[in-house]
Amino acid sequence: MVNVEKGFVNNMFSVEGKVALVTGATGALGCVLAKAYGYAGAKVFMTGRNAKKLQALQDEFVAEGIDCAYAVADPQIEDDVKALVAACVEKYGEVNILAICHGYNKPANILDQSVADWQFIMDADCKSVYIVCKYVAEQMVKQGKGGKMVVVTSQRSKRGMAGYTGYCTSKGGADLMVSSMACDLTAKYGINVNSICPTVFRSELTEWMFDPESEVYKNFLKREPIGRLAEPYDFVGFALFLSSEASAFMTGGNYDCSGGYLTC
Ligand SMILES: NC(=O)c1ccc[n+]([C@@H]2O[C@H](COP(=O)([O-])OP(=O)(O)OC[C@H]3O[C@@H](n4cnc5c(N)ncnc54)[C@H](OP(=O)(O)O)[C@@H]3O)[C@@H](O)[C@H]2O)c1
Repeated sequence: MVNVEKGFVNNMFSVEGKVALVTGATGALGCVLAKAYGYAGAKVFMTGRNAKKLQALQDEFVAEGIDCAYAVADPQIEDDVKALVAACVEKYGEVNILAICHGYNKPANILDQSVADWQFIMDADCKSVYIVCKYVAEQMVKQGKGGKMVVVTSQRSKRGMAGYTGYCTSKGGADLMVSSMACDLTAKYGINVNSICPTVFRSELTEWMFDPESEVYKNFLKREPIGRLAEPYDFVGFALFLSSEASAFMTGGNYDCSGGYLTC
């Protein structure tokens, strides 16, 4: 008998009924991914530091029939993250999917950058990933049903850039952390841990790069075989794939999702 489950197309990619915890839900990608999980039938627990934005997102999503809630937390503060996981469990009973979408950068040449500024980026983009994954992993292990972790890092995790000693280092660290966490968590506990490495996509911080007449835009296109820069929605399909059973055999990977940036 050929071994393919009947009805797999509906089941394999489903996140229906799962509880998805989204960090950086107030950001460009986080809010799109949170809404996408909701439309796909997941219960969505959002977090960020900005209560006003989280409340507005909750209002919008609830009006669309999405089951969601939020808790304010700073992902680099251990007690905040412990309380965040507890709040999610109190609301929905468990956490099945973690999507890490928060992030920060303040580019500066190393000669001009203070050690404190460098450390701030490292804490925002690397230490925070460790803290959130650690406490969510503890919860998933307690639940005993496995889980999916999707960490949004960057193509800058793989290559340097002027002014990016903080960002590249922290994203590179996060990618290696993802691979190491897979070694700790997948075989024994059924928790798949992967990262998505995007190039530039539209956000408040990057909007200025999207002027088609600008040199920055034209230069980017030379490295983007897909012929355009990304929108947050471009990452939804891949993030849902990594959150579903369709990606059951994938763990520890740092996956290119960049319009072909690596190919030329
Ligand atoms: N946009 C791009 O072109 C691009 C390209 C490659 C990779 N990325 C990465 O993809 C992820 C999502 O990007 P995005 O453009 O959607 O991000 P974003 O909109 O710039 O920010 C996402 C959220 O991160 C939180 N945040 C900001 N500074 C923080 C800090 N110091 N500590 C903790 N949280 C902080 C903010 O939420 P609160 O203020 O509510 O806490 C913000 O809404 C990030 O990790 C980013 O580095 C982005």
